Amino acid sequence: MPDQTLFEPRIIGLCCRHCAYAAADLAGSSRFEYPPSLKIVAVPCTGRTDVVQILRTFEDGADGVLVAGCLPGRCHYLVGNLHARKRVDYLAWMLEQIGLQRARVRMINISAGMGAKFAELANEFAATIQQLGPTGLKMKRRAREITLVNRGMANDSR
Ligand code: FES
Repeated sequence: MPDQTLFEPRIIGLCCRHCAYAAADLAGSSRFEYPPSLKIVAVPCTGRTDVVQILRTFEDGADGVLVAGCLPGRCHYLVGNLHARKRVDYLAWMLEQIGLQRARVRMINISAGMGAKFAELANEFAATIQQLGPTGLKMKRRAREITLVNRGMANDSR
């Protein structure tokens, strides 16, 4: 069992630049605190969310991924946020299949004016990830790479 007091989660927030990114910005400028462990990445639309990309994000060391898109019916690409929700649900199922918790990935829908709500949801998600602890995936990948190097079979594809 990991020592939760020493654990600093790495959380990636994939935020739609039309709404969630602005909400995060508003939260910051309005001084609504959200955890510094949440690293925000602006995406054109959550519809661009890719299951493999998020799995790699976990493999690269993320402990949680928050996908934040426009409110239902407000996506600038019409249904991008609806596609994203389906992918996030599928991803949660995949995480469970590989022995991780579904709660490590979450989708929220938010408008640009909901800075306080963004901070509230980000804090809630960070608390969940803090409780779950590290995934250990990055260490497993590193161990696999070392094994491959030792066998002379290093894979340059990543
Ligand atoms: Fe915001 Fe599609 S443009 S989720």
